[in-house]
Amino acid sequence: PKSAELKGQHWIITAGPTMEAIDPVRFISNHSSGKMGYALAKAAADLGAEVTLISGPTNLAMPSGVKRVDVKSAQEMLYACRVAAADQADVFIGAAAIADFRVKDVATQKMKKQSNENEMQLTLIKNPDIIATLSSEDAAKYFIGFAAETQNVVTYAKDKLEKKGLDLIIANDVSRSDIGFNNDQNQVVVLSKDAQWTPEKASKTELAKHLVNIIQTFQTEQPK
Ligand code: PMT
Repeated sequence: PKSAELKGQHWIITAGPTMEAIDPVRFISNHSSGKMGYALAKAAADLGAEVTLISGPTNLAMPSGVKRVDVKSAQEMLYACRVAAADQADVFIGAAAIADFRVKDVATQKMKKQSNENEMQLTLIKNPDIIATLSSEDAAKYFIGFAAETQNVVTYAKDKLEKKGLDLIIANDVSRSDIGFNNDQNQVVVLSKDAQWTPEKASKTELAKHLVNIIQTFQTEQPK
């Protein structure tokens, strides 16, 4: 029988990369596969939560028991998150790897090679910070972010925890090839303002269950 520990809670989880168009055939993106976010969606749904998974382009199958909303760009992702959080959500988890910048003027036609030029320039402008925006709008009771770092993992993660108005941040070292982007395994450090959890390296499926437990513990210890 399905466990009902999270029954009555609405969790919004973002996953995957964003895709920022350059012209009708080209885009800027990153190596996120969506595996971490999809595993979290499945783990929360298995405990009875109503889960909205807001997904950038991935090759993954839809996890059962989850409502999936497909988006491409960061701006679309922010819009979809706001729609999903029209009634304040219980938990928002940002596992997506969102492009910090997008192309300023997206070409409406395929850009042509200029035969006399060896360089070309694209002007980028800042994308909204989705999790920070939603946190400032109180779109959920609890905000859990990820921090993808290649150095000073804990220090940089703590900085993001504070600056983005989060309750918990899940830090992973994306310079390692055995974990992080696209791998089936991950290893993380979870930080709150004054506590730290260090679950063991595990498959994203197993790790997601631990992470959901940590979030549940945090909800019990710090009721809102
Ligand atoms: O998808 P996988 O292949 O399974 O890989 C998993 C992962 C490595 C992508 C995942 O574990 C991870 O670390 N996700 C966050 C990636 C990221 O963009 O981290 P960041 O440190 O740049 O961002 C910090 C937080 O702010 C994240 O929660 C991010 O979703 C959020 N953010 C970032 C930029 C932005 N414009 N808006 C945001 O909301």
